[in-house]
Amino acid sequence: MNISILLFLLAASTTSVLGHWNYNTLIVNGQVAGAPYQYVRRTNNSNAPLQMVNSTDMRCNAGAALGAPLHTETLTVRAGDELGFGIESTFGHPGIQQVYLSRAPDDDGTGTAATAADYDGSGDWVKIYAATTLANASFDANGEGLSWAMRRAHSFRFPLSAATPPGEYLLRAEGLALHAAHKLDCAQFYVGCAQIRVLGNGTGTLEPTVKIPGLYYNTTPGVLIPDFWTKITNYTEPGPSLWPKGTQTQHVVKQLD
Ligand SMILES: *[C@@H]1O[C@H](CO)[C@@H](O)[C@H](O)[C@H]1NC(C)=O
Ligand SMILES: *[C@@H]1O[C@H](CO)[C@@H](O)[C@H](O)[C@H]1NC(C)=O
Ligand SMILES: *[C@@H]1O[C@H](CO)[C@@H](O)[C@H](O)[C@H]1NC(C)=O
Ligand SMILES: *[C@@H]1O[C@H](CO)[C@@H](O)[C@H](O)[C@H]1NC(C)=O
Ligand SMILES: *[C@@H]1O[C@H](CO)[C@@H](O)[C@H](O)[C@H]1NC(C)=O
Repeated sequence: MNISILLFLLAASTTSVLGHWNYNTLIVNGQVAGAPYQYVRRTNNSNAPLQMVNSTDMRCNAGAALGAPLHTETLTVRAGDELGFGIESTFGHPGIQQVYLSRAPDDDGTGTAATAADYDGSGDWVKIYAATTLANASFDANGEGLSWAMRRAHSFRFPLSAATPPGEYLLRAEGLALHAAHKLDCAQFYVGCAQIRVLGNGTGTLEPTVKIPGLYYNTTPGVLIPDFWTKITNYTEPGPSLWPKGTQTQHVVKQLD
């Protein structure tokens, strides 16, 4: 290989790593909404994963604690819409996709309601989506083990329940790559927060709730797996049960056409 090409590849690899990804667009009712990072907070660590589950960066990723300084806009949607995230460039590892939702507080400390752009994600979160292994994924002892519904996906879509109360929210995409998760603190988390303003007449109670960090420990089953990923024969995702109650874990991913 030509040395200048090699140096170029080495330089490129420090900024954007192959197989890694970012969530960069919001999808509403089957259409990409706006430009990349218009409604999703941009991270300051390129596409590097998070590995310390006790970090506040787990909320919205590094450099994305607040949306206002990043000029992230808030998209108005309706409770009952189908939402989704676009991925730059592809979900490049074996693993799972989950989505969490947190309402900006009614009082930001000054007597006025916090906006999604000013909200740091320190409040309560519910989990609204999980996609894990393919349906009836058979274990392939000589190949890659379990089959994963998100593998190589460029997008995924999910419903925002009609029961979602009106207000401003952070919508947090969390990809969890498992290729090194048999080692402590080596599960890779890919996180991105979109800002949405939900309209509608939803009156649901958001529960069960979790805080971030606190959601996972580095020894939580599913964050730490008992063997190398090609060897595990079953997998259960970490985190609380899905809201609304009765929502099922998905085994097929609905991508954009
Ligand atoms: C997170 O846990 C690691 C050990 O796994 C520790 O070194 C670090 O200090 C912890 N960070 C925080 C913010 O608690
Ligand atoms: C990115 O943001 C984090 C806080 O989330 C900060 O600690 C870090 O220094 C920032 N990194 C860069 C390269 O600006
Ligand atoms: C999965 O297996 C169940 C029970 O064997 C069967 O009813 C179902 O149709 C299968 N689903 C798919 C997607 O193959
Ligand atoms: C809320 O309910 C009212 C009265 O039923 C209806 O007119 C309105 O369209 C609903 N709003 C939304 C955003 O669905
Ligand atoms: C598989 O199931 C066993 C028994 O229920 C459990 O101990 C183990 O943690 C599961 N493995 C994974 C990777 O979820």
